[in-house]
Amino acid sequence: MSAFTLRAHAKINLTLETLGMRPDGYHELRSLMAKLALHDTLRFSPAPAGQLSLACAAPGLSLGEDNLVLKAARLLQAAAGRPLGARMLLIKRIPLAAGLAGGSADAAAALLGLNRLWRLRLSPRRLRALALRLGSDVPFCLDPCPAAVARGRGERLARVAGLPPLHLALVKPDISVSTAWVYKNLKLKALVQGAHTAKALAALRAGDLQALRQHGINHLESVSIPRYPVIARIKKKLNQNGALFSLMSGSGPTVYALFTRHSEAERATKFIKNERYFKCSTQFL
Ligand code: C5P
Repeated sequence: MSAFTLRAHAKINLTLETLGMRPDGYHELRSLMAKLALHDTLRFSPAPAGQLSLACAAPGLSLGEDNLVLKAARLLQAAAGRPLGARMLLIKRIPLAAGLAGGSADAAAALLGLNRLWRLRLSPRRLRALALRLGSDVPFCLDPCPAAVARGRGERLARVAGLPPLHLALVKPDISVSTAWVYKNLKLKALVQGAHTAKALAALRAGDLQALRQHGINHLESVSIPRYPVIARIKKKLNQNGALFSLMSGSGPTVYALFTRHSEAERATKFIKNERYFKCSTQFL
């Protein structure tokens, strides 16, 4: 098989509600998740058995066995029962440890790409099970949907056909936030029903941004913002510069803001002066 390239799209959480602790130690979630045009690319080329390699020029990304792309490859080698070979080249555009599921998207692309390169013909169901072993966001990244309401750990997906053609500004301050640390420090409020997620979806579909501001909530902000107040300052700045709505994505620290026009999203990023921050404008997929 000749070489080919897959896209690995970033995601945001338009809501993230934590309903309680599960017996397996993870949190039960309700989250409206959406994929973005912003993406990494992963190129797959054939290589002899036993030769598995990953190249990536992004500073700070481990290329060791803890890398999620290599972990995905190892799971597929185990499923195949053979040390199949591949050469992979990752072009990173999604910032690392940002709350945008960049690593999860790369892992999902690796599962899809190597399943194809190695002609394993693993079923979607089998791939979904492997995806969940790699991380709670990986099943969403693996699914071809542009958006979904996620339940369970994040793997039970109800697909959402598409979101309005809004524009987003993304701003990631130059800090890294550990997802495990955020969940560990989360104070669960009693009797959370997860009702905001359905209401936020209805609000978005109806173009009711007032209602979206009311229901678009992320429980993880209650941990990340007190520890990193810069997240709240970025939200405020984006709101002062015309955002219809802004929220931290995932466990942070990236903040996204919604705008009607591309030019408004682009302009808002210019008001964030810090040169070390990641800033971009993008759209829903
Ligand atoms: O599944 P993943 O590896 O992405 O999870 C990262 C961290 O977030 C883990 O430490 C896990 O405990 C926490 N988490 C959680 N509940 C979820 C998803 C993740 O507690 N639904």
